[in-house]
Amino acid sequence: MYDFRIDAADKPSLYRELIQAADALTAGEPDPIANMANVAALLWEALPDLNWAGFYRNVGAELVLGPFQGRPACIRIPFGRGVCGAAAATLRPQRVDDVHAFPGHIACDADSRSELVVPIVVDGRLVAVLDLDSPRAARFDDEDEAGCVELAQLLAARLGVMAKASVEE
Ligand code: SME
Repeated sequence: MYDFRIDAADKPSLYRELIQAADALTAGEPDPIANMANVAALLWEALPDLNWAGFYRNVGAELVLGPFQGRPACIRIPFGRGVCGAAAATLRPQRVDDVHAFPGHIACDADSRSELVVPIVVDGRLVAVLDLDSPRAARFDDEDEAGCVELAQLLAARLGVMAKASVEE
């Protein structure tokens, strides 16, 4: 068992510690599912006010549910649909303060009010998206987005094996 104690005083330190823990957990492990599973668990433990934390993978130009924490979620999301699909189609982070106001938002959990989705890109190609949901409106701010973008960059390096494998399919 790994016991990472992340109880930083401010958000930048929280993300610094979280990224250090993610780095330590994924270093030397080539299996992308194992790495996403541990990072989902880490996010779930470290970040307050979440009701879902996890990944959708790019499988055949469609998003398919990956490792996560939270309630069971929709399994397949076409590019361009919902917040995750928008992140996949644009390769840009999507931060939504009120999901009810986002056209096409996919409500996997009726409790969700705000959402942050960050694409994980390797060599210009989408590998997965990191998705965080919160029951609190406007839960995510600039610091959350910056922290998750940095985490996605670390994961891009660690999940590169997966990108190569899917290119070879
Ligand atoms: N709300 C997302 C779907 C995934 S769940 O939140 C886990 C969306 O609109 O893409």
